[in-house]
Amino acid sequence: MQPEELKEIFDQQAESYDQQWAKMAPINNGLYFLLESVFAPLPETARILCVGAGTGKELIYLGRKFPHWHFTAVEPSGAMLTVCRQRVDEEGMTNRCDFHEGYLDSLPGQESYDAATCFLVSQFILDKQIRTELFAEIAGRLKPDGLLASADLSAEPGSFEALLQAWMNMMAGADISIEKQNRIKEAYAKDVAILPPDSVASLIQAAGFDAPVPFFQAGLIHAWFAKTGSKIVNQDREKGGAD
Ligand SMILES: C[S@@+](CC[C@H](N)C(=O)[O-])C[C@H]1O[C@@H](n2cnc3c(N)ncnc32)[C@H](O)[C@@H]1O
Repeated sequence: MQPEELKEIFDQQAESYDQQWAKMAPINNGLYFLLESVFAPLPETARILCVGAGTGKELIYLGRKFPHWHFTAVEPSGAMLTVCRQRVDEEGMTNRCDFHEGYLDSLPGQESYDAATCFLVSQFILDKQIRTELFAEIAGRLKPDGLLASADLSAEPGSFEALLQAWMNMMAGADISIEKQNRIKEAYAKDVAILPPDSVASLIQAAGFDAPVPFFQAGLIHAWFAKTGSKIVNQDREKGGAD
């Protein structure tokens, strides 16, 4: 799927997005709960980059837990970002957030972040090279030893069908309409790159991160954290690009 088509899909879903996934909150909450522990060592005034921030769920969770952190939400779908702004405003967090409508490569400024989240975003990039480039762009925006937390749908080929069946059962139980379930299943087959966990980890590592640590799995959702570590990509970027 072309980026413009994907943006259009999220634009259309924005208003109902949180409501639609509300009953799957136990999964997200488990992920955010672990994320909190992964990010706990960050400085008290950490700057966090949220790539594909959507309606702001992970950003708001972290914002509540760490009241002095500052967030930059990067989101190509204007409608998703509008919902994100509203939610952030309702939380009284607007003075701690910047919003960028667009992709990461067009985010202005040279700020270096302590950490980044990229939740359920890279899976939409079918081309592995381009998917790696997204992770490399994130690495380029982080400080040395900066942390990435990334989550995507992922499965071993041998367990994918069984997990998918359980996942669809869960959606049925979460009041997702049968039409929507069918559209989601179709999208998983052609528009979402559901790779084995080791392959996703390899893409992250190929982007300049240290070996990613798998820290969460619930059904098809897997999450990893990784440090920029010894490859100080960001300093190369600030010097005008790596050679
Ligand atoms: C499935 S939603 C997840 C939103 C949020 N991270 C969450 O977990 O609730 C994926 C979001 O990523 C955005 N997105 C898609 N491709 C992107 C890209 N290449 N860079 C940044 N964001 C992207 C979409 O517009 C959408 O809002």
